[in-house]
Amino acid sequence: MKKNIAILPGDGIGPEVTKQALKALQSIEESFGHEFTYKEALVGAAAIDATGNPFPEETENTCREADAILFGAIGDPKYDNDPKAKVRPEQGLLAMRKKLNLFANVRPVKSYDALLSKSPLKESIIQGTDFVVFRELTGGIYFGQPRGRSEDGSSAFDTCNYSKEEITRIAKLAFEAAGNRSKRLTLVDKANVLATSRLWRETVQEMAADYPDIELDYMFVDNAAMKIIQNPKGFDVVLTENMFGDIITDEASVIAGSLGMLPSASIGTEQSLFEPIHGSFPQAAGKNLANPFGAILSAAMLLEYSFGLVEESKAIQEAVLKAVEEGFVTEDINSDNPKTTEEVGDKVAAYIKEALAV
Ligand code: IPM
Ligand code: MN
Repeated sequence: MKKNIAILPGDGIGPEVTKQALKALQSIEESFGHEFTYKEALVGAAAIDATGNPFPEETENTCREADAILFGAIGDPKYDNDPKAKVRPEQGLLAMRKKLNLFANVRPVKSYDALLSKSPLKESIIQGTDFVVFRELTGGIYFGQPRGRSEDGSSAFDTCNYSKEEITRIAKLAFEAAGNRSKRLTLVDKANVLATSRLWRETVQEMAADYPDIELDYMFVDNAAMKIIQNPKGFDVVLTENMFGDIITDEASVIAGSLGMLPSASIGTEQSLFEPIHGSFPQAAGKNLANPFGAILSAAMLLEYSFGLVEESKAIQEAVLKAVEEGFVTEDINSDNPKTTEEVGDKVAAYIKEALAV
């Protein structure tokens, strides 16, 4: 198979973890006889430094021309403590999501047997956790208008809005995913308070008639935040709006033992983008210590979701599992005997080739 992949390493640890994901993809190319072409482009603070724009037109074009996009991370501390900064790296991420219509962010949450003791949660509670969050990504309070400051600057406002159409298109994906899993879908909202949440409930309720084999339930987000760490095995597919999804997936990452483990797919109307859920972790940038598994597993999601290469995707996931089980991990997981980012990336690439060598 011949495919074009846009590579957007971004900021902080983005470039070094993305590099390890590329090694895994190259192993897949060799082992399965595929041909991927990679084109790199700037995004985030790196793009602001070079062009003044966190999501330059050239990057947008590279994304549009690609069959899939692999993205690292965005963010730079020099902007974090400057609320008056006119351009911010995160604007690049939000512009990218909006312009490329990346409406559904899929975040799988799994516990790893070898990492159970790394979580502050009890092993008996998290062992066997396996659920996936469908987070709406281009609507809600992240994008709603109007937003800003009152004229005298003494008050500020954001707007949360959703259309039925925005809800339906992601809900459809979540219902379908539930159909391929344990057939349970939980809508997380705040319908006791918010008008937008009531529209979510109404819309998803109507759609349920078309999916008679799916058991649909509803949970308020505050309760869901509690249940996720109290009984994570109670979830299968979770559907929620943008901001709630942002918050509960960071929370859920605690189950996996490290934020560095979690990949994600942002499904678009044309092409999709794949990224680890962690941020740019600037304190670790360039130190060769960041956990590359989230990025590597994002490459695995890319193969499955964008190219339909299920076996290839599994090969990457199995190589990661093997590295985790053998304790071949970075310092966030094993501070006594840590491997470097590069070492872990090389190991996973080697495991992929070994497993497939005949
Ligand atoms: C994420 C991040 C982003 C978000 C930030 C960096 C804008 O936290 O992808 O979860 O809030 O969506
Ligand atoms: Mn987040």
